[in-house]
Amino acid sequence: MDLNTKVCVITGVGAGIGAAIADVFSQYGAHVIGLEKDRVSLNRTAERIAARGGSLYAICTDVSSEASVRSAFQEITSRYQTIDVLVNNVGLEFYKDFVSVSVEDWEHQLGVNLRSVFLCCSHVVPLMMKAGHGAIINTASVQAFATTGQTAPYAAAKAGVLGLTRDMARDLGPHHIRVNAVCPGCISTPMMERSLSRNGDASSARQKMQSAIPLRRLGNPAEIANAVAFLASDLASYISGVALVVDGGLLAQLPVT
Ligand SMILES: NC(=O)c1ccc[n+]([C@@H]2O[C@H](COP(=O)([O-])OP(=O)(O)OC[C@H]3O[C@@H](n4cnc5c(N)ncnc54)[C@H](O)[C@@H]3O)[C@@H](O)[C@H]2O)c1
Repeated sequence: MDLNTKVCVITGVGAGIGAAIADVFSQYGAHVIGLEKDRVSLNRTAERIAARGGSLYAICTDVSSEASVRSAFQEITSRYQTIDVLVNNVGLEFYKDFVSVSVEDWEHQLGVNLRSVFLCCSHVVPLMMKAGHGAIINTASVQAFATTGQTAPYAAAKAGVLGLTRDMARDLGPHHIRVNAVCPGCISTPMMERSLSRNGDASSARQKMQSAIPLRRLGNPAEIANAVAFLASDLASYISGVALVVDGGLLAQLPVT
């Protein structure tokens, strides 16, 4: 796989899957630009990549904020002529019964999980159209297809990410811009740790989750990052508009025997 010299913007690089995508992309030779709202973890990722001989240009950004995203892309376009790849990785999950979901919860979840994708794409697509090529990868979730419950705004936003992905793939294909989604299953990240601890006993929650997955384990962030790198690379040159599920077989099963 080769991402050599490609300019790649990745969101949420401070932890979990985004940090792994930044690592993998830099190992494949990409110029990585990392957008992340948490400055400490952003710097940590940049330092780790620099220590391995790669480089990550770090911009502290809240991708759910129109002003923050605009400012980030002004900085990017002052340094780079074009953007070859955009990975919209940021996401935020919470668990609440539907009747407890407030309008503020809804707006916040949709803002971080869906509006952020639109905001970043709206800055990147004109540059890709001008260049006549590009690849966009949006991170959805298995929750776009089937839900655990108590995740109404998250599941709705992730299903929205798939709709947005398909529509963009259709409209931008004639400009040689590919738009795809990756749908992770249960992956070991800080988000997953928060989810497993929410009812107190994280260890038994983990065991229960593992036993429900055909491969009998959680995924590693690098296993999602490798799928994203494939979709970003020329190896995926005829793939556009797909939702690539990376879930150890989770969605392949029916809950009855
Ligand atoms: N971990 C899983 O099991 C899983 C499963 C399905 C889908 N996903 C999706 O994968 C993506 C990454 O998830 P993760 O588990 O690595 O999450 P995580 O919470 O472990 O890490 C997310 C990173 O994004 C950053 N971030 C959050 N909000 C931001 C914002 N508004 N602006 C900029 N940065 C922001 C956080 O600071 C953090 O560094 C998300 O879209 C998530 O919905 C994860």
